[in-house]
Amino acid sequence: MEQKSIQREEWNNKLGFILAAVGSAVGLGNLWGFAYSSSEGGGAAFVILYIFVVLIVCIPIFVAEFALGRNTNVSAYLAPIKAAGNNWAPLGWLFIIAPIAIASYYAVVMSWTGEVFLLSLFDGLPKNASESANFFKSISTGNHVFIGQLFSLGLGSYIVSGGIKKGIEKLNLICMPILFLILFLLVIWAAFLGKAGEGYSNLLLNFDIKQLTNPTNISLAFSQAFFSLSLGIGVMITYASYLNKKSNLPKQAIQISFLDTLVGLMAGLITFPIIYTFNMSSSISESTIGTLFTTIPTGLGQYGLVGRLMAVLFFGLAYIAAITSMVSLLEVPVSTLIDKFNLKRKYASIYSFLLIFVIGIPSVKSISFLDNLDSIARTLLIGGGFLVAFLMGSVLPRSIRNRT
Ligand code: TRP
Repeated sequence: MEQKSIQREEWNNKLGFILAAVGSAVGLGNLWGFAYSSSEGGGAAFVILYIFVVLIVCIPIFVAEFALGRNTNVSAYLAPIKAAGNNWAPLGWLFIIAPIAIASYYAVVMSWTGEVFLLSLFDGLPKNASESANFFKSISTGNHVFIGQLFSLGLGSYIVSGGIKKGIEKLNLICMPILFLILFLLVIWAAFLGKAGEGYSNLLLNFDIKQLTNPTNISLAFSQAFFSLSLGIGVMITYASYLNKKSNLPKQAIQISFLDTLVGLMAGLITFPIIYTFNMSSSISESTIGTLFTTIPTGLGQYGLVGRLMAVLFFGLAYIAAITSMVSLLEVPVSTLIDKFNLKRKYASIYSFLLIFVIGIPSVKSISFLDNLDSIARTLLIGGGFLVAFLMGSVLPRSIRNRT
């Protein structure tokens, strides 16, 4: 079996690793998914369920993924095999297929994000509900989506080709402070909007105890938590494979989960005041992924120049959040190609870029394809997460016990 832990790169320091993991976790899923799920899932009840899932289920799985990555020091595809033998190869396959699938449609959503950013900067935003449907159509259909998809994948691959320290760690060191700064500014701005209070109370105070046991809410909380924390498909295993042995894994898992949840909540504190102040609450549940690109731009579009400026900040923030997630997804196939076939990082990045570009074509062409792929991926994450927990919690301890 491949044994390639010699000369494996390492993170420069603890902060670099934590920022990279937070960068992976914080993404479009936080900015949109959290607010969307909580509006669908009964407001405060969803938030409580979400926090519960993070604490009870996700943090232990986080530690399991970190431990698997750090102790095997190989890419996610090889890690379960190195730890527990060839019977676990299918889990390795899941770890390579799922990040590729997610990256393929994530690049498309990044393309829409980048376009809204450019439109708010140079052109203008929709001003009412009837303009908003056309607006979304115009950003999400047509061959120009390929430009954004290629750009996003190209940028991500370029950064990943720079390596762990000089590529991924450096990107996150620059981007994460900017991201938190913009987020903070937007939360403060949104607090002064006319119906900020109404927005907050719908996000956090609207509590119906029955919603806590509603199966739809429970499954929303699981899928949102796994997606948002980048768990279940090898991304965190891969990042942890570049860790040295000194790090305190449970502490880091808690820190990362805390920051990610904080960003989800802060995003809600931005989007909910906008939605209620500009009377967009009826449009929120019409479509899943597209609504971020109709509700928020249309809300801000009614607010003149200031609204446009805030849209520039919001979608700039979203793009930054997305690129730091994209590199984490790309690092999985790239590190696998390096470990398994001894490829140079540069070529591994180019091949991954080409492969994901081609797999992403149906998502550029069809939003329903993209939506379905997203649903399938979210299910795989949960399955993958539980399998890692089972591997680390039950299979390995037993085989180690049998050996001694
Ligand atoms: N967590 C990111 C978000 O919230 C997306 C992401 C990056 C991801 N890497 C992942 C999701 C791995 C699942 C698995 O947008």
